[in-house]
Amino acid sequence: MDAGQKDLDFPNIAVLVSGSGTNLQSIIDDEIPVSLVLSDRTEVFALDRARDAGITAVVVDKTQFKGEREKFTSQVVSVLKENNIDLVIMAGFMTILSPEIFEVYENRVINIHPSLLPAFKGAHAVESALEAGVQVTGCTVHIATANVDDGPILAQESVDILPGDDITSLHERIQKVEHSLYPRAIRQFCLRVGP
Ligand code: GRF
Repeated sequence: MDAGQKDLDFPNIAVLVSGSGTNLQSIIDDEIPVSLVLSDRTEVFALDRARDAGITAVVVDKTQFKGEREKFTSQVVSVLKENNIDLVIMAGFMTILSPEIFEVYENRVINIHPSLLPAFKGAHAVESALEAGVQVTGCTVHIATANVDDGPILAQESVDILPGDDITSLHERIQKVEHSLYPRAIRQFCLRVGP
């Protein structure tokens, strides 16, 4: 954290997760105050990270909604509202949400994606970059909208693809960059929108 950023007034922040939660950890380690961690599945390591940091952790189990995206999204929005959340940070959240959340939290949902958007949208961005034979990929922080991996770009950083890279090695290097880019971009965004 920069010394000059200590007095930043943060909005009430929720982080949405589905997996290991390394990006969540980078946000916690950067001392960005997170009020709520919401997972779409049980038994993911991100929930342990939240509990270890003393953050309220909630599961809205997508398997209980049997593909009913609207109902699932409404339940997520209810939990966010109950917790007075102002800003929603998606950090490896793997369920596509219906438009409701992007209306209720217009311009207040942020996402990180492991490519230089608009290139390589979708759940297999790292694999797609390798398959395309490009020499540079990276990661993008953007405002999320109802269109997946779309919306105004807030920050990007490139990562070189090296000879012999596979999905694991490349994704690891991208994630390393994500872990410094995401907290930085969130802080800048909070300065813009305030509490
Ligand atoms: C990150 O690479 C992010 O870009 C993508 O999903 C991954 C999440 O990793 N959307 P983690 O759960 O934060 O470790």
